[in-house]
Amino acid sequence: MAERLISLGRTDEDLSLDQSLRPRGFREYVGQKKVLAQLEIAVQAARERGEAMDHMLTYGPPGLGKTTLAHVVANELAVNITTTAGPLVEKSGDLVALLTNLEERDVLFIDEIHRLHPAIEEVLYPAMEDFKLDIIIGQGPSAKSVKIPVAPFTLIGATTRAGLLTSPLRARFGIVHRLDFYTVEDLTAVIERSASILGVAVDGDAAIAIAKRSRGTPRIANRLLRRVRDFAQVKADGKVTSGVAADALTLLEVDEMGFDEMDRTILLTIMEKFSGGPVGLSTVAAVVGEEPDTIEDIYEPYLIQIGFLDRTPRGRVATDLAYHHFGLEPTHLQRNPQKRLF
Ligand SMILES: Nc1ncnc2c1ncn2[C@@H]1O[C@H](COP(=O)(O)OP(=O)(O)O)[C@@H](O)[C@H]1O
Ligand SMILES: [Mg+2]
Repeated sequence: MAERLISLGRTDEDLSLDQSLRPRGFREYVGQKKVLAQLEIAVQAARERGEAMDHMLTYGPPGLGKTTLAHVVANELAVNITTTAGPLVEKSGDLVALLTNLEERDVLFIDEIHRLHPAIEEVLYPAMEDFKLDIIIGQGPSAKSVKIPVAPFTLIGATTRAGLLTSPLRARFGIVHRLDFYTVEDLTAVIERSASILGVAVDGDAAIAIAKRSRGTPRIANRLLRRVRDFAQVKADGKVTSGVAADALTLLEVDEMGFDEMDRTILLTIMEKFSGGPVGLSTVAAVVGEEPDTIEDIYEPYLIQIGFLDRTPRGRVATDLAYHHFGLEPTHLQRNPQKRLF
């Protein structure tokens, strides 16, 4: 249960609640002030000129509001949004169909854009650049290249792995933003906003307590709020006081850093089995029984952000802060340090 709070992308419950809790406009979108300040200008400028906004790429760990931001931008542009995802576009014809159905200034949102097939990516280049499609009709000597115009549109791409994007694709985005983890203050605002939409009474202290354990991530904040709400309904009178929140969070096994079982396993593995590192990602992955990509995309960014983990050229290293958190003594301070593996 605790692990599900973090690890598994979006659950069905998230899907429906993501819809209802999702901010619609810039005003409701909490935090990410620098990103918003720039986007507000880009949106207003495009609207005033009556043109499609420049293509935009958003990247960052899951649950930070990339999809939400794409919808917010489309709403603010007052245009339609068509959404798809890299793995869903199987043939170039699929992409051609999406593109030719767009109306002028519409947004096409491609989630997980790093997973687009290279051959399909090629269809995007002329569409993004000149609002044209280069299509080959027929085969062999009789094959002809035909140019089809598409309506000027805005492509919004989202990815957890900006590093996996090909450079020609990346170069075609005029607006590129990385979303950062949210502060406790911002997450408290997310929780208070969600609580009022869900009609749950949450004390200020309780909102802060939940925010602190949300790993800097609005999606996790909303998930914890729902679990705490359930607890309050069953075990208390429905009201989320700080005592109720603390009991619920203890039951959910989310510790005061917001770590779940996998966070703890990763850190403890590095500290106890590999003397704190450096140890390669694939080795850690094999020992903890998780995919290297999942560790890299979902767990590491936050552990690095809070200074518990370092990514060095020789591998992952647990920091003194991590040792301190688990009440362990850093290897270099131990009287009889285990022999280093590297
Ligand atoms: N800036 C924000 N303000 C308020 N709520 C947010 C914000 N960003 C994300 N959320 C909430 O978190 C949930 C997950 O956001 P989402 O856009 O799906 O993340 P991503 O696409 O980056 O994985 C949304 O349903 C929304 O309710
Ligand atoms: Mg998303």
